[in-house]
Amino acid sequence: MKPVRYLTGITTTGTPHLGNYVGALRPAVEASRRAGTENFYFLADYHALIKCDDPARMQRSTLEIAACWLAIGLDPEHVFFYRQSDIPEIPELTWLLTCVTGKGLLNRAHAYKASVDKNAAAGIDADDGVTAGLFMYPVLMAADILMFKAHKIPVGRDQAQHIEMARDIASSFNHLYGELLVLPEAAIDDNVALLPGTDGRKMSKSYDNAIPLFQPREQLRKQIAGIVTDSRAPGEPKQAEGSALFQIYEAFASPAETQQLLQAYADGISWADAKQMLFERIEREVAPMRERYDALMTNPAEIEKTLQRGAEKARALATPYIGELRHAVGLRNLSAQAAPAKKDKAAKAALPSFKQYREADGLHYFKLVDAQGRLLAQSSGFASPQDAGRTIAQLKRNDLTGVSLQLADGITDADVANALSALDAAA
Ligand code: TRP
Repeated sequence: MKPVRYLTGITTTGTPHLGNYVGALRPAVEASRRAGTENFYFLADYHALIKCDDPARMQRSTLEIAACWLAIGLDPEHVFFYRQSDIPEIPELTWLLTCVTGKGLLNRAHAYKASVDKNAAAGIDADDGVTAGLFMYPVLMAADILMFKAHKIPVGRDQAQHIEMARDIASSFNHLYGELLVLPEAAIDDNVALLPGTDGRKMSKSYDNAIPLFQPREQLRKQIAGIVTDSRAPGEPKQAEGSALFQIYEAFASPAETQQLLQAYADGISWADAKQMLFERIEREVAPMRERYDALMTNPAEIEKTLQRGAEKARALATPYIGELRHAVGLRNLSAQAAPAKKDKAAKAALPSFKQYREADGLHYFKLVDAQGRLLAQSSGFASPQDAGRTIAQLKRNDLTGVSLQLADGITDADVANALSALDAAA
């Protein structure tokens, strides 16, 4: 069974709070360990650039968010963890997609429409203050997803439209150029834990009631002490229902621990003691992560290295795939004669091919020739024709790992890559 691919973009803005941790970060790290899945997590810094024109803040936020994900336990060896702007294939694909995307589709995007509606209500020009970046946001996001043939996209409800648009865009492309893009699906979890903030409303930066995930221990204690409670005195039984303190505790505690707090409430624990319990419980989970976070933040070069390795892993998939897509739309090497227009059945015949042969040294070889029979590359010697055949089969899947080819005169790596993509695309 092929693994199911999950892919999530992380916008590199803001400072994660306990609500983000419980509702998104912690479940994502847990999900990354499921068997039968492949997981892609990337820092969506090109998306952040749409909203942020402060270079120092861009860099700082990217560092903080990367450190945060590593600190909470995302294993970069086990998942694909990379920075969007390290993958030049993504903006390249963005353009290919842009060319098949109806402007009308983008006009209907919620975020763009909200800006336009706001301008209309204020009686100013509809597009006032709207950048083309904001308008193009859904296409860039579609490229993020389609670049890696992701099946499932775990997102909040607010992002569902973006996934629908990615499907629409992929369908348009496939309709024109063949079934090359995989249609993604949103994976929306409506049961995510919503954490109340210090004032009892949903924890959110915009309410100014958020408790940052990583802050010094004593600051965390102070913020927890500031959580609203009712005026019941020590000794009076407390109600768990509607108690923000209780709900936050529950998000961190085991069922047995939650039961204990419930009992303590009934027994009239003082709010000060209950807050101390909550502080200690959160601290138990957060302290080791905070330590890793602080260590990572003092060593940005280490994070950079991790991201570079991640980019290398991701590009090993993206580079050959964009080659296929370029070929499909007709961005091709000119020395390989243009195949007939795509509706012509003869197109199938005009493909590069492999020829196997045996040399005087007794070894088995193959060569790759283009549609016109021109030599592109030759293999090294194999002990058996089966060995040579296996390598040919691998190349036909557009997989060059471990294969050494000798290029013919005047032929470049790109020529061979184009030929292999064409074979793979036609398979
Ligand atoms: N738009 C997403 C958000 O605001 C972030 C994002 C960018 C994303 N590219 C993505 C999410 C690709 C999922 C897949 O949260």
